[in-house]
Parts: sequence; C-alpha cells; structure tokens
Amino acid sequence: MPKDAEEHRKDATYKKAKREGYRARSAFKLLDIQNRYSIFKRAFYILDLGSTPGSWLQVAKKYAELNLTKHNDKYYHRHHYKIMGVDLKRLSPIEDIKIVKMDFTSPEFQVEINNYFEGEKLDLILSDASINKSGNKFSDQARQIKLCLNILELTENLKIKGNFLVKVFQGADFENFYKKMKQHFMVVRSLKPKSSNKKSNEIYLIGLKKKY
Ligand SMILES: C[S@@+](CC[C@H](N)C(=O)[O-])C[C@H]1O[C@@H](n2cnc3c(N)ncnc32)[C@H](O)[C@@H]1O
Repeated sequence: MPKDAEEHRKDATYKKAKREGYRARSAFKLLDIQNRYSIFKRAFYILDLGSTPGSWLQVAKKYAELNLTKHNDKYYHRHHYKIMGVDLKRLSPIEDIKIVKMDFTSPEFQVEINNYFEGEKLDLILSDASINKSGNKFSDQARQIKLCLNILELTENLKIKGNFLVKVFQGADFENFYKKMKQHFMVVRSLKPKSSNKKSNEIYLIGLKKKY
C-alpha cells in the first residue's frame, strides 16, 4: 500500500536527522523555532524539560558552544555554558551536559536545579515534554495543559528577559494558557514547526523576554 504524504515526510526527516547526527527528528522543530525567533541568542544556562532521547539537548549544546565565541563582547556573556536535561526515561549521556532522571514536577527537582546552576538564573528553558497520550483528545489536552502549568512555574528560574519554549496541545484550555504566558513574557508567539506532524494538535508557544 502506498505511503501517504505525511509518512513520506516523516521518513525523509528521520533520514535527515540520522545524517546530521541527531537522535530524533524533533531536532528540526527546535531548529525551525530558532530560525524564526533566535531563542538561543546569548543563551549559556539552559534547562531542557522532557529530554529523551536527547536531540533538543544536542541542538542546545551546539548553540551554547557557538555563543561562547559569537557573543564575546561587552554585553551579557559567560565564559562557559551549563545545560541540564531531565526526563522520567533513561537518556544516554551527552558530554558536558548534566542529565537528571526524575519527574520535573516533583519538589526535589528544584533542588537539582539549585545545585547544578548554583542559584544562578537561567537564560532559556525549553520543554518538549509530553504526557503519555491515552487517545482521548479532550482529556489528553487537559492533562497536557496541566503539565504546562507545572512547567510555567519552573520559569521562576529564568532570568528577567530570559526566553521560554513549551509544547502545548491546541484545544479547550489553550487560550487560557496563552493568556497566562502573556502575564509572564513581554512577547508570546505560537508556532507549528514545518517538521511537526500536520495531523497532531501539538503547537509550540514561545515566550520571549520574561517580564520584571
Ligand atoms: C517528545 S519527548 C522529548 C523529545 C526530545 N525533545 C528530543 O528531541 O529528543 C517528551 C518527553 O517528555 C518526558 N516527560 C513527560 N513528562 C515528564 C515529567 N513530568 N518529568 C520528566 N519527563 C517528562 C517523557 O518521558 C518524554 O521522553
């Protein structure tokens, strides 16, 4: 049976990810978002929530390394980067990245953040975290929004003017969550990356410049 266009596209991006050394196709979603909104600009301290298998961490490391030389000027700059990835599932190590296996909604996770970043605020928080889908679009969407509300609380760790990216599912509570984001960030945008499955209701919200 011939594959539909979506399957062809998925195959092609999968092969491209393998060629470019990424652990998953989702790397291209993050690269799409970066190309549009430059969320990695001057990002040295980065937290990635829901990281397994680790392609977003690979992208984050690439930009953090680039920033060490690219933005070495009188404006905000650090001489090193710190990146932490967290997931419930096992994640194979990536050199120079701190990997934590735990539920990031647990209070213990805040202790991990404090210890690793030594109380310093972060430049960027990424979340591609997703609930385990049950197949019921309504309850899945509500559960994903609940997870996103937990994630939004973690932006307490962001510096003023820091950036935030989070995966949401479109549906009933989406508008409310969007409004909540607006309370915390000067600019909020939504984007469905080109490499995202057209049939899924996933969408990414980008919060630029955390408010004072
Ligand atoms: C779509 S995958 C992430 C893919 C990743 N961005 C990449 O590019 O390789 C979503 C991940 O979120 C994780 N996750 C969901 N809820 C979580 C939680 N409360 N704590 C930690 N990880 C969670 C899942 O275990 C899953 O591995």
